[in-house]
Amino acid sequence: MSTQSEPFVVNTPAELAAQPPEYGDLVKKIIVSHAINELAGAITYDEPAIAFAPSPYWKWHACRIAMEEYGHHVRFAKMGAALGVPQDAMIPGRTEKKSLNIFEGTLGGWAEFCVLKMIGDLAEILQVEDLLACSYVPLRKAAKITMPEEKFHATFGERACTELVTTAEGRRGVQAGVDKLFPALPAFFGRANSRNNELYRKWGIKQRTNEEMRADYVGRARTLVEKLDLTLPALPAA
Ligand SMILES: [Fe+2]
Ligand SMILES: [Fe+2]
Repeated sequence: MSTQSEPFVVNTPAELAAQPPEYGDLVKKIIVSHAINELAGAITYDEPAIAFAPSPYWKWHACRIAMEEYGHHVRFAKMGAALGVPQDAMIPGRTEKKSLNIFEGTLGGWAEFCVLKMIGDLAEILQVEDLLACSYVPLRKAAKITMPEEKFHATFGERACTELVTTAEGRRGVQAGVDKLFPALPAFFGRANSRNNELYRKWGIKQRTNEEMRADYVGRARTLVEKLDLTLPALPAA
């Protein structure tokens, strides 16, 4: 447990094995969640986006993003394997553990993909930022390597959306993407008053409450969308 003088850190899988089972179970749970959602996102959105990309330049970007998202799955899955998590448990559809609802949809087109990267990967950035101070050091290291790639994806999304909104058709496509995707995104941050989140914070695996992260996210997403002179749809009641 963390104390003022000596922060609680666990450096390796061997050190983790010496911790109470509650800690190991929580670390595995967060790794599985990242591994499943990175893969589900890559399959549902990033790989299909390559076919929708309108020019060689954007196909190049879409290919790089798909490669990196599959790579994120591989990075988290390796970490899970080192803790004895079965491969199937980290692949969506192979066990009862499901991906987030948003990754069960179908990609509607290029503009929608650009929106997903702009505001969806922003949600991922917040999650990865929180892991930079994680008590399990391999997760902290994974977050550090993953962060510049997630920032590249979000910056790509913002840049591509900024270009798209210069035409009437592109603007309609980007607004439609925001309307379709945004309502599902705050669920990334889990429930309010979550027992899981309380345990994650107790063990220094996560730093912030779900509510704090969600409010931060919605504010940052609003700034991005309104900068493009578009409208953020109202959220369903929590
Ligand atoms: Fe990712
Ligand atoms: Fe990403």
